[in-house]
Amino acid sequence: MSEAGMVIVGGGMAGARAIVSLRANGWQGPVTLVSEETLLPYDRPPLSKAMITDEKEPAPVSLLDESMIASLNAVFVRGARATGIDRKAKALVLEDGRAISYDKLLIATGAKPRRLAIEGGELAYTLRDFADGDHLRSRLRASASAAIVGGGFIGLELAASARKLGCAVTLVEAQPRILMRGVPEEIARVVHARHLEAGVTMEVGTALRAVRTDGVEMADGRKVEAEIVIAGIGAQPATALAEASGLALDNGIACDATLKTSDPDIYAAGDCCSFPHGLFGEKRIRLEAWRNATDQANVATANMLGGDKPYLAVPWFWSDQYDLSLQIAGLPGEGVKTVRRAVAERAFLLFHLDHGGRLVGASGIGPGNSIAREVKLAEMLIGRRAAPPPEALADPAVQLKGLLKA
Ligand code: APR
Repeated sequence: MSEAGMVIVGGGMAGARAIVSLRANGWQGPVTLVSEETLLPYDRPPLSKAMITDEKEPAPVSLLDESMIASLNAVFVRGARATGIDRKAKALVLEDGRAISYDKLLIATGAKPRRLAIEGGELAYTLRDFADGDHLRSRLRASASAAIVGGGFIGLELAASARKLGCAVTLVEAQPRILMRGVPEEIARVVHARHLEAGVTMEVGTALRAVRTDGVEMADGRKVEAEIVIAGIGAQPATALAEASGLALDNGIACDATLKTSDPDIYAAGDCCSFPHGLFGEKRIRLEAWRNATDQANVATANMLGGDKPYLAVPWFWSDQYDLSLQIAGLPGEGVKTVRRAVAERAFLLFHLDHGGRLVGASGIGPGNSIAREVKLAEMLIGRRAAPPPEALADPAVQLKGLLKA
């Protein structure tokens, strides 16, 4: 390879992990990370939770600090937006006209919050980066009431945080229930009940007509007064750079199983990447998840250095709300049969089996870390394409660890 080296665009979890992984895999040439953000890479999960509720002044939870970047001998170009890729010359082009040559390029540009496409939609706050979180924190602390639009992880976690601050919360979800995307109904019911118990007004199956400076107006004419309106209505993969460069797209940047894009010198990882998953019959998926960003960065960088490894990690998501933690491994939606297993007081797991009886997903909910160990074991079973007997999965007396050995 030339001295151009490895270039990563995007300074989130995937981008930060990629630098570490390139060095861990023995790459000694140049590494450059280009990030639109001015902050060093930081962790996003706290933005909807601890950062809002903690008394202490918020600070980004750093993934890579200056000394780590120096010890990895990486160049970090921050506050710089990449606008194009000169694929012939193999150079990343920045808004200010600079061009950064690459041998291999990793696109880890993430996702951007969707905006409400209704009257006044621009008045609703969204959450993605540290500045958004910092702003929401001070606004929620100064407000007696909040209307939160969207019953996904972001909306629900913010609702729990706002309640903790004593804010009156109305949550508006357009679908017939919360957490329609990827979370089984039985688990969503527990989450819904917990929000009611915490005093949140849950408006499910409710369409909005407008956002006003003093709240929201529903399609049926009712008004909810709120000092702050927040929208957590999903994210869109950040594909503008890939699109401008003529890379193939398909619900994100279309990659093959090795996370290579339609250009053999360009890879993608994290929220922006869609890929066929070998554990699920090569079904093309895109995952918006912290763990996926890390795992994909590891695989993509190994392949940028000459590997040919397919990405086969079991999808894994989590959310913490109040005292409850929910976790999902695999793809519950791929299952046709569900088996329930009680784990402890108020804690249970659901196993999702496909037509052939193979375990393709597991989801769990319970207080604290009550379900973490069982979900971890289920994740390992899913990774091994196991088809454990449903009676064994349902029986808390049968150790999942034992099923792994079987
Ligand atoms: N009005 C009300 N609800 C809406 C509307 C609308 N106009 N549009 C969408 N929704 C609902 C969806 O039905 C869904 O329940 O908003 C919810 C959005 O949920 P997600 O798609 O899961 O997105 P979000 O919670 O915003 O999270 C975005 O951040 O934490 C990460 O994993 C998370 O990657 C995801 C991203």
